[in-house]
Amino acid sequence: MEQKVFLITGTSRGIGRDLCEYYLNLGHLVAGCSRSSSNLEHERYTHFIFDVSDEKAVKDMVRQTIKKYKRIDVLLNNAGIASMNPLMLTPYKTAVNIFNTNFFGTFLFIREAGKVMIRQKKGRIVNFSTVATPLRLEGEAIYAASKASVVSLTEIAARELAPYFITVNAVGPTPTPTDLIRSVPKDKMEALLNLQAIKRLGTIADIANVIGFFIDDKSDFITGQTIYLGGVNP
Ligand SMILES: NC(=O)c1ccc[n+]([C@@H]2O[C@H](COP(=O)([O-])OP(=O)(O)OC[C@H]3O[C@@H](n4cnc5c(N)ncnc54)[C@H](OP(=O)(O)O)[C@@H]3O)[C@@H](O)[C@H]2O)c1
Repeated sequence: MEQKVFLITGTSRGIGRDLCEYYLNLGHLVAGCSRSSSNLEHERYTHFIFDVSDEKAVKDMVRQTIKKYKRIDVLLNNAGIASMNPLMLTPYKTAVNIFNTNFFGTFLFIREAGKVMIRQKKGRIVNFSTVATPLRLEGEAIYAASKASVVSLTEIAARELAPYFITVNAVGPTPTPTDLIRSVPKDKMEALLNLQAIKRLGTIADIANVIGFFIDDKSDFITGQTIYLGGVNP
């Protein structure tokens, strides 16, 4: 197996943390980040503490990752926050925070890791959307809109980076048990799962499976795509 360098955002807990362990177990090198510290200790893992919307800190992480690991093969833009609020009751600050992390964080990492990948003439970028966007979920307008912007970014970045043999795709998970959805009431969650073709919660394995397809060397003709899980259509 060829050892690859992964840069994964949002790795202190949840899906990002599990993906770190998944790729470390496969023998890869991983650089991760979050606003809080991580208790993941591994000789092939490096953790950085900062907010993904901090431009200078993003540049610094990419620089330090290159210094240590020499290249970036895969970028997983996983860091994300949500807030379930009727639109009329959503504070401006909440909306700004959501876009800062979900959209601007993703943009900054695509741009900075993208520069490295352009030099390498090779790279795989996978962004994180959500089924909340195609399902047009009431109560999740700002979150869904922030992830719609990630889909748009994915589609255009895919075109701009294609000449450099870099693919940019997105995965749209269904509800997956992590802190992000802990506060969603049980009846709401059941109603949400009923909107899916396959009516169950998602797992890390479901998400890793889609990522595995996108980052495979054989997937060099697959770019600008968003795959939603659970049989949800765009
Ligand atoms: N779980 C689901 O049901 C679900 C469904 C669809 C899509 N998704 C997407 O999947 C991704 C991961 O979600 P999750 O469920 O694993 O969420 P989570 O359990 O809340 O974890 C989010 C991770 O991102 C980090 N993070 C959040 N804001 C950050 C910021 N501004 N800067 C740096 N790190 C930040 C958090 O660490 P700190 O708090 O320490 O910064 C944490 O490590 C998100 O993009 C989410 O939108 C999740």
